[in-house]
Amino acid sequence: MSKTAELIIDGKSYTLPVVEGSEGEVAVDISELLEKAKVITLDLGYKNTGATKSAITFLDGDQGILRYRGYAIEELAEKSNFLEVAYLLIFGELPSKQQYDKFTYDIKTHTLVHEDIKKILDGFPSTAHPMGVLASLFCSQTAFYPESLDPNRSAEGVYLSIVRSLAKMPTFAAWAYKNAVGHPVNYPDNSQDYCSRFIKMMFALPAEQYEVDPVVAAALDKLLILHADHEQNCSTSTVRIVGSSKASIYSSISAGINALWGPLHGGANQEVIAMLENIKADGGDTEKWINKAKDKNSGFRLMGFGHRVYKNFDPRAKIIKKAADDVLGKLGINDPVLEIAQKLEEAALKDPYFVERKLYPNVDFYSGIIYRALGIPQDMFTVMFAMGRLPGWIAQWKELRENKEPIGRPRQVYTGQKLRPFTDISKR
Ligand code: CMC
Repeated sequence: MSKTAELIIDGKSYTLPVVEGSEGEVAVDISELLEKAKVITLDLGYKNTGATKSAITFLDGDQGILRYRGYAIEELAEKSNFLEVAYLLIFGELPSKQQYDKFTYDIKTHTLVHEDIKKILDGFPSTAHPMGVLASLFCSQTAFYPESLDPNRSAEGVYLSIVRSLAKMPTFAAWAYKNAVGHPVNYPDNSQDYCSRFIKMMFALPAEQYEVDPVVAAALDKLLILHADHEQNCSTSTVRIVGSSKASIYSSISAGINALWGPLHGGANQEVIAMLENIKADGGDTEKWINKAKDKNSGFRLMGFGHRVYKNFDPRAKIIKKAADDVLGKLGINDPVLEIAQKLEEAALKDPYFVERKLYPNVDFYSGIIYRALGIPQDMFTVMFAMGRLPGWIAQWKELRENKEPIGRPRQVYTGQKLRPFTDISKR
């Protein structure tokens, strides 16, 4: 017999269906509550609200588990590569050799962007944050491919938009950086793999031979895998809610890029390095900064710490911490902020404030240190996160579309003025 929940309001009982997920997650289905009981639920920040049913990513915050389509993140990070993971997230299964070859070939043949993109880029001052530039360039694809606006686009048409999105993202990202430093842009070199192509577009200078360091490309590939999806987080929920209005894939993802930009979400990776640099410049007294993070009046938070869902540890942070040691070792880099980060982590994990609130390092705590070792400038850290998250956004947009989900439209509890008469300006 299927489970139900009982809700009693003013002595009247309502029976609500209970939905169970494949990993035993239980949800009370309130979709008919308003109609039947004339009440809504209130849940600021959606901390207890399931916005959808999804078969893409499983996350257990208490156990520190993250799986894409049933595969453990640890195994994917070790054995797979970013485009294979992208295929898995978007199409539901790991690709066969033939499917993988076609997918990567299709991506390779769409890496060029329209020359007019340069005119858009030229309109931005070099002070423009690359995340704003990226979001704009991504959204501009609706102008170059107006057929993408058709909400009833065929499966082949959607596939083409998916391939274009993945193919052009590294080009947009590298060009956003070139705009910031005032250098001429590089065109994609399709003899290179996904990450090497991006690195070459980022760093090659005119009339100079540029060889991509395979250690750098492999480290970036792993980071992208770790960021590829994270179920219904702020930016993904944004993509889904924008997509639910039947907006195009490009505008939905552009909205996701903007949501990711905030310092409480993807923007935290940039903030972490800024924080570690500050601590270093201040003499490296980690205890002082831990105390500041505990003082609610200081307005300071330990960036890269805490997570809405992980209350044990963030499995991505574990992999990244190890990768940071490996990459810095392989590249022969001794970054003093790594030591500060390790000291902060050690102190926080022993401190009752952090222990009681279950605050652990998250994905962003060590990723900035690796990006820096790879030569990626601070302003580009969140762009790297966006490049990694792209397959997740695409998969979630596609799932929403295929499941024919209704337009997202939350309710509210109104707390404003009651009806009152208008007063003329002369009497106010
Ligand atoms: N430093 C100090 N105190 C913190 C921190 C922190 N980083 N994070 C949470 N707290 C405290 C917070 O003050 C609150 O204390 P109290 O119960 O006494 O009021 C308690 O812990 C719960 O915090 P919350 O803000 O209610 O938790 P949340 O689930 O709404 O926020 C978070 C989660 C990630 C926004 C938050 O932990 C935070 O601001 N962390 C720093 C920013 C960061 O690293 N963001 C990246 C998240 S991972 C990448 C991604 O997926 O976006």
